[in-house]
Amino acid sequence: MQPDDELCLCFHITKRKVTNYIRIEKPKVASQLSECGGAGTGCGWCRPYLAKLLEQSVSGDVDGSSEEISSDEYAANRSRYVRDGGGTPPAGATPVDP
Ligand code: FES
Repeated sequence: MQPDDELCLCFHITKRKVTNYIRIEKPKVASQLSECGGAGTGCGWCRPYLAKLLEQSVSGDVDGSSEEISSDEYAANRSRYVRDGGGTPPAGATPVDP
């Protein structure tokens, strides 16, 4: 994923926005990332990725360069997750592929 790709597709929050939030606000736990525009509070798909970004910030890899999934693959996996009953996106979220 690239910095300007959406990490939270429910609230249209980019990876860059989350990494900047981590850099500036220095959250202690991943759940605090919900204060970054509601990230992770929709379908829940992005929560493991939010936690991983926070872990990477502790290890000094704040750009998350070890994350090699493409944005298309990420969105497709999220669609599968929602279709399988993993969570419900809010109104206005990036649509789930049929
Ligand atoms: S993609 Fe972040 S809560 Fe749904």
